Amino acid sequence: MTKNNSLKEDNKVFSPNTQVIESANIKDWDKEIHKGKDIEKYWSMEAEQLDWFKKWDTILDTSEEPFYKWFVGGKINLAYNAVDRWIETGKRNKIAILYANELGDEIKLSYFELYREVNKMANALLNLGIKKGDSVSLYLPMCPELVITMLACTKIGAIHSAIYSGLSSSAVAERVNNIESKVVVTADGTYRRGKVIPLKPIVDEAIEDCPTVENVVVVNHTGKYDGDEELKENEILYDKFLEGVEDSCEAENTDAEDPLFVLYTSGSTGKPKGVLHTTGGYMVGIATTLRNIFDIHDDDLWWSTADAGWITGHSYTIYAPLLLGSTTLIFEGAPDYPDPGIWWKVIEKYGVTKFYTAPTAVRHLMRYGDEYIGKYNLDSIKVLGSVGEPINYEAWKWMYDKIGNGKAPIMDTWWQTETGMHMISPLPVAGLKPGSATKPLPGVHVAVVDEEGDPVGVGKRGYLTIAKPWPSMLRGLFNDDKRYKEEYWNTFPGLFKTGDMAKIDDDGYVWIQGRSDDVLKISGHRIGAVEVEEAFNSHPAVNETAVIGKEDPVKGQIIKSFLILNEGYDLDKPYEEGDEFPLLNTLKLHVRHTLGPVAVLGETVSVDSLPKTKSGKIMRRILKAKEEGEDLGDTSTLDDL
Ligand code: WTA
Repeated sequence: MTKNNSLKEDNKVFSPNTQVIESANIKDWDKEIHKGKDIEKYWSMEAEQLDWFKKWDTILDTSEEPFYKWFVGGKINLAYNAVDRWIETGKRNKIAILYANELGDEIKLSYFELYREVNKMANALLNLGIKKGDSVSLYLPMCPELVITMLACTKIGAIHSAIYSGLSSSAVAERVNNIESKVVVTADGTYRRGKVIPLKPIVDEAIEDCPTVENVVVVNHTGKYDGDEELKENEILYDKFLEGVEDSCEAENTDAEDPLFVLYTSGSTGKPKGVLHTTGGYMVGIATTLRNIFDIHDDDLWWSTADAGWITGHSYTIYAPLLLGSTTLIFEGAPDYPDPGIWWKVIEKYGVTKFYTAPTAVRHLMRYGDEYIGKYNLDSIKVLGSVGEPINYEAWKWMYDKIGNGKAPIMDTWWQTETGMHMISPLPVAGLKPGSATKPLPGVHVAVVDEEGDPVGVGKRGYLTIAKPWPSMLRGLFNDDKRYKEEYWNTFPGLFKTGDMAKIDDDGYVWIQGRSDDVLKISGHRIGAVEVEEAFNSHPAVNETAVIGKEDPVKGQIIKSFLILNEGYDLDKPYEEGDEFPLLNTLKLHVRHTLGPVAVLGETVSVDSLPKTKSGKIMRRILKAKEEGEDLGDTSTLDDL
């Protein structure tokens, strides 16, 4: 995916203009990186910017490595820092959340309004018997109630688990059961490309298999419900749930290391990983990085297009901007509906100043040329950001020229669900090389290593690892310490394995080279090859499957599936007599039903055999190399090609 990411235009380095330098919170990039050499000093200095109920006793506790702890003994509450403290310090009537959607609706919530709504939801959850340490699962579209519910959980110390609303009922059930939620908060549906996509039926189906769930709260988001007569006994409409509930609520005195949320993500096995983040360090990490990288000031309007079902949504669409007392725009809908100018229209209408999105969306929208973007005035944009996958030169340049009018630097932020915060990224004052996320951030230390864990040296490709702990690092995988160690720490002792490959050039700039494992990035969404294979394999017509990510000019990668069908089946013929569609369509539907609409299948072919190691493991690497016409590499362990 990254191999075309070479520097163009005679290796031009893009320097920031004087306006950017003048307004920058951090003026000297190198000096700031130097400050970050002492991680404890650097991060504790940043931690001072938050409001602690009680200061920490120890900055970093490494005694139970790799179970690192930050700000030990400190007491801090996220909702208090993200909402309450602003109403006491002059931002009471400032807009905290600006919700917009494809229908042109908008909802504005000031910090004071948000404060009261969060308090009500927090009290309503407490009334239901939810207490500190309990978990609440969310299956919601991007809407104010989503933000309110997440904040309400943090206010009372409950752990939230937000599930992306494009996942299937079985994925919901798996996640709810893993974390044993007593409550699920969902909505009737979500707006998408002129339609209402129902969400509640997916939760209904999921919780049939979830014995821990006692109550379901339903946001009447698209207005499906006139009253609550259609709901079951243990289900309640959100508005009714909050009716008459007290609108003040004291923030729980949460410990810096109390669990904050679990977010499930794909790994190289079929079972999703429940990435656990805790409170204090996470807040320090995300607030610092957003402030420094996107140069947040009081008059900014921040828009991150990421859905709250992903880490970018948690850290940067919702929490970090609120922790900085900023205004965050949340948008519900597709980037190309009612037409591919909708995002530009939103930027112009509200005067968005900082815009953060994924390369896949940029590539999609740039196909329309100037026709739509040319209609709008995007002069308000000061800094741009890219996330989720490597950005190719053409997309970078289009973003730079068209969205940023050649004056807004692009922050190419590399990070992961596990890291919680940005890890490798420029600051606005940095010289930019398109396609490189530039350098590790101040306070972040990376190493690119070989199989033995030794540094590979300048210009050589190797495994990207993180060499020192950082405050917003995951604290584990939910209830699975063994897997946590195996997945991240056992391969290179003392180093955190990211699963990515990288190179570092002469100037110390990092060039991400894609994943070293079987995790795919489809339109920026993370999905495991094994998850897709298992979904295919669960259909009776399929014997065995291998899935790879194939390079795609718009989506970054598409899912390419190689199927060995059982005797007598053919992709072009119906699965069963009387079926209207060929087996291929039946299988597509089956995978979509199993994993959710997020699993968009690209190419699917049937084959007679799959390349395997002598021990019978499928060698996806070989399929990928063949597909991309590359050298097949070491095939000595191959049984059969
Ligand atoms: C990839 C998303 C290149 C990478 C925040 C990483 C990137 C995975 C970039 C994490 C970037 C993320 N350049 N690749 N700027 N940002 N990635 O957990 O492979 O959904 O390991 O977190 O996305 O995906 P996740």
